[in-house]
Amino acid sequence: MTLRPLGAAPEKCMIGGRWISPANNECLSLINPSDGSVLCDIAKGSKEDIDQAVFAAESALQGIWGKTTAAERGRILARLGHLVLEHKDELATLEAQDVGKPYKQARADVLALARYMEFYAGAADKLHGETIPYLDGYTVYTLREPHGVTGHIIPWNYPMQIIGRSVGAALATGNACVLKPAEEACLTALAFAELANKAGLPDGALNVVPGLGSEAGAALTRHKGVHHISFTGSVEVGKLIQRTAADNVVPVTLELGGKSPQVVFEDADLDASLPFLVNAGIQNAGQTCSASSRILVHQSLYEEVVVKMAKRYNALQAGPAMDDWDVGPLVSHRQKQLVEGFLAKGEELELVGRGKILEDAPSGGAYVAPSLFAGVHPDHILAQDEIFGPVQVVIPFQDEDEAVAIANGTNFGLVASCWTTDGARQMRMAKKLRAGQVFLNNYGAGGGVELPFGGTGLSGHGREKGFEALYGFTTLKTVAALHG
Ligand code: NAI
Ligand code: MG
Repeated sequence: MTLRPLGAAPEKCMIGGRWISPANNECLSLINPSDGSVLCDIAKGSKEDIDQAVFAAESALQGIWGKTTAAERGRILARLGHLVLEHKDELATLEAQDVGKPYKQARADVLALARYMEFYAGAADKLHGETIPYLDGYTVYTLREPHGVTGHIIPWNYPMQIIGRSVGAALATGNACVLKPAEEACLTALAFAELANKAGLPDGALNVVPGLGSEAGAALTRHKGVHHISFTGSVEVGKLIQRTAADNVVPVTLELGGKSPQVVFEDADLDASLPFLVNAGIQNAGQTCSASSRILVHQSLYEEVVVKMAKRYNALQAGPAMDDWDVGPLVSHRQKQLVEGFLAKGEELELVGRGKILEDAPSGGAYVAPSLFAGVHPDHILAQDEIFGPVQVVIPFQDEDEAVAIANGTNFGLVASCWTTDGARQMRMAKKLRAGQVFLNNYGAGGGVELPFGGTGLSGHGREKGFEALYGFTTLKTVAALHG
């Protein structure tokens, strides 16, 4: 089937501003997880294509892109943001069909991508070095310079949002990017590359090579011409990337997901918290790095929270992405099997709520019924491992110390939230919770592009989003002039 997302050629790679067939002329099929049909063929990029893409990026840095001022980079990103908004319906449709996420959520992701372009457009000319008071006769200052060629290996769960936060910040600071989207979902990455051309981004500043992680992804990670790697995905591959990058002594930013808790204290505003408790677990069918998969509840409210959450779960419906049900399919049958494997390990647990898969949902779709477990021991595998599906566990606690111990009691540390009307407790919890982002009386703060994001522990390291990302995508040079 031929699909031309906004004019892009999915069976090709975007290299040096042109659509180029992969060196080996091989393709992969992109599947629509709502019904199992083939959406289109995509390029199966290999080492040769990555070599070409890195060469194109280097050439861009030597050429027009390397000479483009910060203000002009900002203008290009602003135009790109406008184009994203102009094409919001097409982009949302592509993302919904490709990832399987409900259309409304895909629309929100388009707006986020546009916001990233706007934010980094505005920030491009506001990042600067400093002058440092030093010895008599010296003038010392710092320069913020791009790394050079940056590699971006992104997953399938939020392609547009992750392109926005990582490629947006890298381009704003003058890097030239090679993007390897996920083999499960890459249509919006290709459409974005086409829009970047239309926005006037110089050739080679953004190159996109679809393909397998083990081939194109591994080749990008190993490439000696790559000066920084930004990766979002599994812990397993994150470790591999950090090890490989060590051979070239290249900095990496790793965002590897989590097991993020919401802690509900006895004085919480329960009505305010309930929508967040469930939505943060089922958004994008739970395939969200910052999904809240653990709900910790003070014993005094425990029964009430379980009953109310279960009621919501029992009303949830899973169905095709374009029809906008509460939950879409998982991205693939492989992901469905992974999640079902976890559900099998929860068989002895108390299943208190279960959503429904629409009766007439296409049989080829990768649907999993949302599942809520209660009374789960904090050490149980369902309370420890990232499931990446619409599954939440509820865990009771007795006091603040125990809540902190359970909340911090996994190997992850991406996001955490705390529901309490006690101001002093809010401040204590914000300090005690081990996470890159802490939310007080909310969860996710609407996903703001302005808010630095990243993890500790197995959730990874480095920060993307917000102004902070600009530091990560630059390197600092100190200049000391002795002039007497
Ligand atoms: P993955 O980590 O294998 O894939 C993410 C990206 O890495 C894709 O672009 C893939 O092609 C690439 N990749 C895979 N192997 C590579 C290699 N050897 N070298 C370089 N790049 C490579 O994730 P996968 O297999 O799709 O999902 C497995 C689990 O990972 C999920 O169940 C979930 O727990 C976690 N995950 C977390 C994400 C997050 O947002 N933090 C996103 C996706 C997955
Ligand atoms: Mg994998």
